[in-house]
Amino acid sequence: MSLITIAQMTDAVAILDFGSQYSQLIARRVREAQVYCELFPWDTPAQRVLALKPRGFILSGGPNSVYAPGAPYLPEYVLASGLPVLGICYGMQLLAQALGGRVAPSSHREYGRTEIALTAAPIWPPALGSTQTLSVWMSHGDRIELLPDGFIPIARSAGSPVAAMMHIQRPLYALQFHPEVQHTQHGAAILAQFVYHICNCRPSWTPENIIEQSIAQIRAQVADRTVICGLSGGVDSSVAAALVHRAVGDQLTCVFVNTGLLRKGEPEQVVATFRREQGAKLIAVDATETFLEALQGVVDPEEKRRRIGERFVRVFERVLAEQIKPANGSGRPLLCQGTLYPDVIESRGPERQAAAKIKTHHNVGGLPSQMEFELLEPLRYLFKDEVRTIGLRLGLPETLIWRHPFPGPGLAVRILGEVTWDRLERLRLADAILQEELEHAGLLRATAQAFAVLLPVRTVGVTGDERAYGEVVAIRAVTTEDFMTADWARLPSDLLARLSSRITNEVPGINRVVYDITTKPPATIEWE
Ligand code: XMP
Repeated sequence: MSLITIAQMTDAVAILDFGSQYSQLIARRVREAQVYCELFPWDTPAQRVLALKPRGFILSGGPNSVYAPGAPYLPEYVLASGLPVLGICYGMQLLAQALGGRVAPSSHREYGRTEIALTAAPIWPPALGSTQTLSVWMSHGDRIELLPDGFIPIARSAGSPVAAMMHIQRPLYALQFHPEVQHTQHGAAILAQFVYHICNCRPSWTPENIIEQSIAQIRAQVADRTVICGLSGGVDSSVAAALVHRAVGDQLTCVFVNTGLLRKGEPEQVVATFRREQGAKLIAVDATETFLEALQGVVDPEEKRRRIGERFVRVFERVLAEQIKPANGSGRPLLCQGTLYPDVIESRGPERQAAAKIKTHHNVGGLPSQMEFELLEPLRYLFKDEVRTIGLRLGLPETLIWRHPFPGPGLAVRILGEVTWDRLERLRLADAILQEELEHAGLLRATAQAFAVLLPVRTVGVTGDERAYGEVVAIRAVTTEDFMTADWARLPSDLLARLSSRITNEVPGINRVVYDITTKPPATIEWE
């Protein structure tokens, strides 16, 4: 969706990202208030940010000190616009510095939960009633020593005489704490108060609006050209396909590629569900050999992703050439992908590059630079919860909408070391046992993602009376809201015992099962 289209149809807020680990959460909270917003790297050209026609700005936190040489600064157009501004943490210090206040290191650093005392101000939501203290999340080493002219303090804590401030005439507000994190009491309501009552945004980012705008935008981009949608059976590609089908009907052909890297029974199930639930054309291709050949001898995770991304595109190009009658349009064909907003945020902007390097998610970073297709990414500005909501609104079944995510490179990134057919079959069997036992225990919805991983080590064991030298399966089960941080699921020990017993008994070549008890960070959810 282009910014200009969105700006014409809905009220919006621009968030400038100064590199805080919580920046994305600000965007999620504003969207949850049904107000459209976008997160821009702080040094995005003014013209691009203003194309959104924002009704206000939010300045995120960040890891720097505003007075450090070379630190990100407040771009001039923000205050020059006269629009409301809310500075959060680093954003607050930027406002103070830009308007003549003084920011200095604090002798009393505040990290974590902190009590603040409030004084009346329009930014505090009416829901607070007569509440005068709030428990909030702080994370700062600098503080405001001297208020800029025209500002008054509206909250204080033990370590910060100015834990929040506002301008007495202009719509400028700032918070030293993070309203976007769940640990801050009434944090979401404070952000909602800013966007509704200070920026005067209407809650117009509703599922109906999202669908309507996406369809308009897809039609504008596609015109009369042919679209291919790579369908994985997961929620993102299914919702993307459903939207594109609504928008351009038979110009869309969905292609399901059996890479050989899928879970037990998955290819048959995905094709059957699609044929039952969605009216679009579907071509199913078995490309197992192509993918296995590409992965031969490869052990590096990023190289696996790159080769898989490349093969996907080649398969789509072949299907297009051999099996699809072109639509009337003669232009370049489009390839539709279910890329989500967090993928886009994590892979752009100078201060985001460190995050992007952790892993190349193939639907963003693993595509070859030379390809016949233009990309169509109708979910590019949406968060997962928004995708689920519009998926349900489009009539897709709950079982599909709530399916655990499965990575594009499939089991290839869950087989550590070389991917071979034998190892794939072993992992498929172990994973099927895990899924069956979780379902049986009624715990599928209680975990956000649960899967088996095949490790590249062999360990000694006894099978019958014989010495065995077999492979190890790790079980990974996590709880998370947003997949950016995660905790390991506290699965009942009798379930773990059953899993271990069944996997070692039923999967040939496995003589040890371990349970992964690491959070993200420091680990990631997948092992590769
Ligand atoms: P990590 O492992 O980065 O995973 O904590 C976060 C979420 O992303 C999924 N994931 C991927 N999805 N292509 C995808 O489409 C990939 O290469 C990829 N790697 C990780 C992972 O399953 C989890 O849901």
